[in-house]
Amino acid sequence: MIFGFAGSAQFAASYYAVQRTCQVRLFSDRLAAFTFWGWQSVIVIMLISLPLGYTTTKEYAEIEFSGAVWMTVVWVAYAIVFFTTVVRRKTRHIYVGNWFFGAFIVVIAMLHVVNHLSIPVGWFKSYPVYSGATDAMVQWWYGHNAVGFFLTTGFLGMMYYFVPKQVGRPVYSYRLSIVHFWALITLYIWAGPHHLHYTALPDWAQSLGMAMSLILLAPSWGGMINGMMTLSGAWHKLRTDPILRFLVLSLAFYGMSTFEGPMMAIKTVNALSHYTDWTIGHVHAGALGWVAMITFGATYHMVPKVFGREQMHSTPLINLHFWLATIGTVLYIASMWVNGITQGLMWRAINDDGTLTYSFVEALQASHPGFVVRFAGGVFFLGGMLLMAYNVWRTVRVADVRMAEREAQIA
Ligand code: HEM
Ligand code: HEM
Repeated sequence: MIFGFAGSAQFAASYYAVQRTCQVRLFSDRLAAFTFWGWQSVIVIMLISLPLGYTTTKEYAEIEFSGAVWMTVVWVAYAIVFFTTVVRRKTRHIYVGNWFFGAFIVVIAMLHVVNHLSIPVGWFKSYPVYSGATDAMVQWWYGHNAVGFFLTTGFLGMMYYFVPKQVGRPVYSYRLSIVHFWALITLYIWAGPHHLHYTALPDWAQSLGMAMSLILLAPSWGGMINGMMTLSGAWHKLRTDPILRFLVLSLAFYGMSTFEGPMMAIKTVNALSHYTDWTIGHVHAGALGWVAMITFGATYHMVPKVFGREQMHSTPLINLHFWLATIGTVLYIASMWVNGITQGLMWRAINDDGTLTYSFVEALQASHPGFVVRFAGGVFFLGGMLLMAYNVWRTVRVADVRMAEREAQIA
């Protein structure tokens, strides 16, 4: 989901937005095509090798050494296409959305290389150069910034392009967007230890991670507010434009998950939430509510333009998708909150003699209704995606190449 869905979405959106905001074509169509096929091949390598057991066992960095090297080659090609296009721009300044895309590309390269430093003992087996608590620290420095840069920064780049475009107004505060950018990338890098509370990691590092996570609330909300306020004076458009509704709701979920995250980073809260479904609910508030919703909005914005149509095949279907995705996400998050808190409280309950009140299986049984609700949420969400696939297919089927080229020139 992260590399295949969120990754492909960011490749597409950054290539689309950088050309329009820089007023030039991509540096090289061939290299861009290479990044497409290269990235898909990385996903195929993951889909085959991981179930076969070839894995580093590091979460979100499972791909083994040889695959990781290939991934680096593709990523470097991506960086060349993106940054060379920016360098050759016809506009004087670099639009803020491109700063976010650029940071996403640079930081992911850095994280990927550092976390994958290992000694290979064959094509599919390697040992990390780090060990013990250091390995864990490097892994969660990577893991948290995978969230911060792979699931946030690139999508903020999308937000800064697609929200103003869809509303038809400039971004609310350009100055705030610059403060937002520097504050976000400065703070995210420090928050990783909140994934390692109450472990062998030094206590001061855990507390530092907690403090930085709390401060991270400010730039996160700064960005959300900047996006939302771009609608000032145009809120009525939400009544008729389901694409805009996707974009705005994604910001609301972004705000919600970046409020929840810092709360969960507080050590005493984490003592309850860690290992429970609360984390899973938080993950999907971000993944479904923020990442997927903004991608849907951006896709519905881009597809007609790229294929030379006035609009998507069916606006009512977009509206229906919006409601299915919203209901699906809410069911998912709400059921995982209930499950998470239930599990946390049941696991920590002890009798007077110090024995556990509940066995693990009892907590699992208590979680069953929540899993059923999550399943229903997933069905809603998937239903919406199928509608989107149909709507995109109908729009692409009647593509008008000449119109698309004209649109690309004037955009
Ligand atoms: C200010 C922003 C955020 C902070 C401070 C934060 C904090 C946290 C905390 C404390 C955890 C639980 C760690 C644990 O107990 O194991 C967590 C887990 C997670 N968060 Fe966030 N979060 C933030 C935003 C987001 C967003 C926007 C997303 C998604 C787009 C996201 C995705 C995740 C994921 C995937 C995990 C699970 C990691 C794992 O596999 O264990 N977070 N986050
Ligand atoms: C129909 C939509 C979805 C459903 C029903 C769903 C369901 C699930 C389930 C059942 C898990 C395992 C939870 C566990 O370990 O207990 C999971 C984990 C995860 N999902 Fe999803 N998912 C969906 C969409 C997405 C999307 C779109 C993303 C990312 C953009 C995503 C990112 C993740 C991540 C990062 C984890 C690992 C969390 C962790 O281990 O802490 N999911 N999902």
